[in-house]
Amino acid sequence: MGTPAAGEVSRYTMADVKGRNGRNGAPAWIVYKDSVYDVTKYLSEHPAGGDVILEEAGTDATKAFDESAHTPDAKQIMAKFKIGELVEEEKRYDANGKKKKRVVKAEPEGNRRSCMSIITCGLAG
Ligand code: HEM
Repeated sequence: MGTPAAGEVSRYTMADVKGRNGRNGAPAWIVYKDSVYDVTKYLSEHPAGGDVILEEAGTDATKAFDESAHTPDAKQIMAKFKIGELVEEEKRYDANGKKKKRVVKAEPEGNRRSCMSIITCGLAG
């Protein structure tokens, strides 16, 4: 976290968001498609009540939001509460708003090297 330079967006991790669950005086943040929203002030205005949003506070609410009866108006309202975006490493959508495929982690360097030596030793021997 931190204050971004002019023209840059604030970046948050899911760990930052997790604590903002609207409980014990904490603000209520939600993530929708990699953007972070502080909806604390919107809770009392939500047509379906603040509780349904509070249940999602501190988490990625993309699925809950999309599965609820929302019109395009709701997205416009939500946009007003945007405070930043997830850090690149934690983003789940690509530039076209499509869900990214899960990245398969490469094997750690050490393992790769030992595999290589097994092969080379095998060949040499
Ligand atoms: C910033 C976040 C949100 C905004 C700005 C928002 C806004 C709205 C608005 C404006 C409506 C009225 C219908 C419409 O014009 O689309 C609505 C309805 C609704 N919202 Fe949200 N919403 C948010 C988050 C959520 C979340 C996270 C949930 C569920 C977990 C949720 C559940 C619902 C439901 C169930 C309705 C239907 C109410 C009904 O017509 O009976 N909303 N919301």
